[in-house]
Amino acid sequence: MSRILITGGAGFIGSHLADRYLALGHEVTVIDNLASGKREQVPAGATFVETDVRSEEAARLVREGSYDIVAHLAGQMDVRVSVRDPQYDAAVNISGTLNLLEAVRALDPARRPRFMFSSTGGVLYGDFVTPPNAEHVAKDPDSPYAISKLTAETYMAYYGRVHGMECVALRFGNVYGPRQDPHGEAGVIAIFCGRLQANEPFRIFGDGSQTRDYIYVSDVVDAFVVASSAALPPVGRLDARAFNVGTGVERTVVDVARGLQRAAGREVPIEFAPARPGEPLKSGLDPAKAAEVLGWRATTALDEGLAATWRWITGA
Ligand SMILES: NC(=O)c1ccc[n+]([C@@H]2O[C@H](COP(=O)([O-])OP(=O)(O)OC[C@H]3O[C@@H](n4cnc5c(N)ncnc54)[C@H](O)[C@@H]3O)[C@@H](O)[C@H]2O)c1
Repeated sequence: MSRILITGGAGFIGSHLADRYLALGHEVTVIDNLASGKREQVPAGATFVETDVRSEEAARLVREGSYDIVAHLAGQMDVRVSVRDPQYDAAVNISGTLNLLEAVRALDPARRPRFMFSSTGGVLYGDFVTPPNAEHVAKDPDSPYAISKLTAETYMAYYGRVHGMECVALRFGNVYGPRQDPHGEAGVIAIFCGRLQANEPFRIFGDGSQTRDYIYVSDVVDAFVVASSAALPPVGRLDARAFNVGTGVERTVVDVARGLQRAAGREVPIEFAPARPGEPLKSGLDPAKAAEVLGWRATTALDEGLAATWRWITGA
């Protein structure tokens, strides 16, 4: 049994991760300030501490909790919020991460937890490279959100090299599944589900040909679980301990709209609106490194994941 601290464990992905670690018999503590997470999503078997990742209370927990793993998922995760308020985005995503990393550094090296970070492959690589993108391609973040995630990863690589800490970055594609709120980076599937349920049209920003690598939430949870105990590559450059967590398949937003209509067995009209700033046109992740080093692969087909998400939305 391991002791695991999950930040953001009241949120969409973090609460699924808490469920899984508990089911595997581990002891789980969740930190969340409930900025977007929900108290009722924290599983009953987990200890819940309502606090901000930027706080001294959060740092003290890391220093005093004897954790084996810190899974850091708390974050400002909405690209649009980051465009509107880059300082808030940076405070949570950079300073919040740094607060936890410094708390890990303060520990005796033999007692330091592995630090696993929820990064993004969806927006880190920008539009100058042609997907599917491997981890080492040039980064061209086009939003404050992508900049803050890249900066947090850069700190992690530094702490690995200079202080010998075990830091792992998991770069997710666009995660979807039950419990997702209809906002943020991959909210499109949750938004479409809500629209379909209300019999309202889907609205697509841009011409609908923009691609994403949509990944089902249980596949992301699998990636965390294997990365918790895998032998890590030696520390090195920024990408040495970063892993894309995607399917390797690009889908257009129109594909997703149609797939969801098929899964639900009903249709609504599709409307188009002007494209939004800060969002890449094409995004697809090469997951080969995670397969090779961690033995992880996505196993949920898009149609299967959409059907499961729709069943959850409708309570079926
Ligand atoms: N959903 C995706 O497609 C996706 C893709 C790439 C990366 N990520 C990253 O994965 C992580 C989890 O995302 P999610 O989709 O579950 O989003 P989410 O909003 O459901 O979860 C984030 C959680 O962090 C909490 N939080 C926010 N600010 C906090 C703070 N200052 N202190 C403590 N808690 C705070 C929120 O209350 C929420 O419970 C985020 O870091 C996000 O950037 C998500």
